[in-house]
Amino acid sequence: MNTLIALLMTSLIHLIPAPVEMIPGKGSFILQNGTALYIQDPSKAKDAVSFLTSTLEPSTGIVPAVVKQYPAAGAVLFVCNDSLPAEGYTLTVTKDLIEIAANDPAGYFYGVQTLLQLLPPEVYRPVYQPDQYTPALELQVPCVRIRDYPRFSHRGMMLDVSRQFFTVDYVMRFIDWMAKHKLNRFHWHLADDNGWRIEIKKYPYLTKKGAWRGPGEVLPTMYGHAGERYGGYYTQEDIRRIVAYASARQVEIIPEIDLPGHSAAAIGSYPDILCDLTTEKGELSAQGMSNNVWCASYEKNYKMLEDIIREMVQLFPSQYFHIGGDEVVTSQWTNCTRCTAFMHEHNMKDPMEMQFYFVQRMQQILNKFGKTLVGWDEIMEGGELDREKTVILAWRRAANIKEATSAGYKVIVQPAQYYYLDMKHTLAERGMTWAAIFDIDKVYSFDPVETPGLTADEASKVLGIQGGLWAELLNMPPRIAEYQTYPRLCALAETAWSPKENKNWEDFKTRLSETHFDRLYHMGIRFRIPPPLADYVNGYICAQNEYPWMVIRYTCDGTDPDSRSPLYTGPISTKTPESYRFASFFRDDIRSIVREANLPYERYQKPITHVTGNINIHPRTPLSLLGDNNRSTYVRCFGPLKEGQSLLYTFEEPLKTKGITIQTGLPYAEINIVDFAYVEYSPDGTSFKKADCPWKDGGCRFVPEGPVKAVRIVFENGNQIPTYFLQDLLIENQ
Ligand code: ACM
Ligand code: ZN
Repeated sequence: MNTLIALLMTSLIHLIPAPVEMIPGKGSFILQNGTALYIQDPSKAKDAVSFLTSTLEPSTGIVPAVVKQYPAAGAVLFVCNDSLPAEGYTLTVTKDLIEIAANDPAGYFYGVQTLLQLLPPEVYRPVYQPDQYTPALELQVPCVRIRDYPRFSHRGMMLDVSRQFFTVDYVMRFIDWMAKHKLNRFHWHLADDNGWRIEIKKYPYLTKKGAWRGPGEVLPTMYGHAGERYGGYYTQEDIRRIVAYASARQVEIIPEIDLPGHSAAAIGSYPDILCDLTTEKGELSAQGMSNNVWCASYEKNYKMLEDIIREMVQLFPSQYFHIGGDEVVTSQWTNCTRCTAFMHEHNMKDPMEMQFYFVQRMQQILNKFGKTLVGWDEIMEGGELDREKTVILAWRRAANIKEATSAGYKVIVQPAQYYYLDMKHTLAERGMTWAAIFDIDKVYSFDPVETPGLTADEASKVLGIQGGLWAELLNMPPRIAEYQTYPRLCALAETAWSPKENKNWEDFKTRLSETHFDRLYHMGIRFRIPPPLADYVNGYICAQNEYPWMVIRYTCDGTDPDSRSPLYTGPISTKTPESYRFASFFRDDIRSIVREANLPYERYQKPITHVTGNINIHPRTPLSLLGDNNRSTYVRCFGPLKEGQSLLYTFEEPLKTKGITIQTGLPYAEINIVDFAYVEYSPDGTSFKKADCPWKDGGCRFVPEGPVKAVRIVFENGNQIPTYFLQDLLIENQ
């Protein structure tokens, strides 16, 4: 606790997101146990006050004394100011008082968030520690005058809970962290191909069947969890609790059930939803799913959807309701006896017209319940939707912002290239790559109204921005959702809240690195820190950190560094740089990814390699990608993989090597690995011998006897999932 007291004495004004206006003063206000707290209008300020007191007490022991009379001095005041804009506040700290003025609950709440950022980062420590409880601590609050309000009314974050399930507790924490960054919309992606996550009483199979994957379930194992029953769902009572929790933090929840595509979970639960197909297995969706689209001409489906939405609107007070609309495999409808007859009858030539029909039907249902439809930007493509009753979520290209606003739609902006936080930060990290690979600076650089050619009127239709976190790769390690989201979300929050003129990357980076990382740490967020750079030059490995105040630790036995590994203090002289591993650490608890030293020579051989095999590969990833000597390319193939199937790597010339590593699964992510296989190798390409290495975690390393002309992976039974990834061999130098 002594270190806490010492730390509590220092305060820096490093706010994230940056406020509209801030004038630092001199001196400080002393906040202590029993400081008077006066609330002029409890009906508006109560959630904010409760957030303040419930944050302060466990971490500092300070409990203010709520008073009924306007106190003379030395007090915290929550007062009304009806000239402030929505969600705006002023925060004044003098030696005599702390005053938060606002006009609505959100304004008070954001005033409190800023006040907390004036305090030392330790105030975010969430856990009450009775043995360390030290009453009557003092906090020095620096004198300052702040006037603040948001740039955008929609400041959001989307979480996909279908591909991975997140517990009620985790969802609450996720929302709490958002609120601390002044974000106010949680877009909850509740149903997709890989799991239906919301209890619907009228259709119990949606969660009895559709919330589970694995052996014997209607949904196959996907995205980790091979061989186990995996899933979960939120009861309606869970949802009510989460909605109330979010509301007390000024976060509105916008629910999404993804329709009419992305619906394998619903269809697995109620197969009638599907079209009356003339071919058994149709075109695959972008995620490799077949038969995942609601039949758009089957009237009973609309009745079911209305029933589902009727239950959902009672749980979610939000004006907006998201019906998905992305990546629909419309060829399902042209392969359906009912839909083709319907299209013929209604003179529809293009299946997009059928999609438009579906969206309109959804709009009618939502309007009946007084809700506004939100959909991914594909919903604009079938025809003209009602501009007053439709909001477009632009995700595919920044150009969709112009397209939607110029057509008169209101738009929420979530461009994949900047705001899909499931994308990798850098090549060698876990994450998706299909939209881009980007770090926090790129998130910070994007401005939603700087789309080329956007007029002022079009810009006024941009309601705001949001990040997106899709969950394909979020199964492990446990911190991965936070790793992907933070600190990138901090950059997004500044674009969402702060005036454009106040944005400044260098200044933001200072605020982030000098103070805000500490806040994230004490909030319990296991955020990403950049890995060190390590180069081997003239017999020395020199390592450096992006943030010099973080420490680097290393090992030289091939294991990953941990908090007990030696500290790097200067260049390391070595003749075996290959055996060193480096990682950056924040307070010993948070580690970067592990780096090997960059060598001035190639670590691995790059022979001319021909690859053949009798597996069913995805047309976009030819087998030649396995011989291109690029570790980040891969081949996607369809499972199940069985006995009798194999993959053969043949080298132009026999090669000598210290060892060959075979790894399956998405590179750097180890997802969709082959679980059952063994390896054979050959000196001449004809006679093969089994390699002496157990297959483990989707791969193995073997040391061949003599030169190698060919390596074969022989698949065994038991590999049940629909998609696998295969990689280049890693062939060590001799
Ligand atoms: C999306 O990423 N399919 C909206
Ligand atoms: Zn149909």
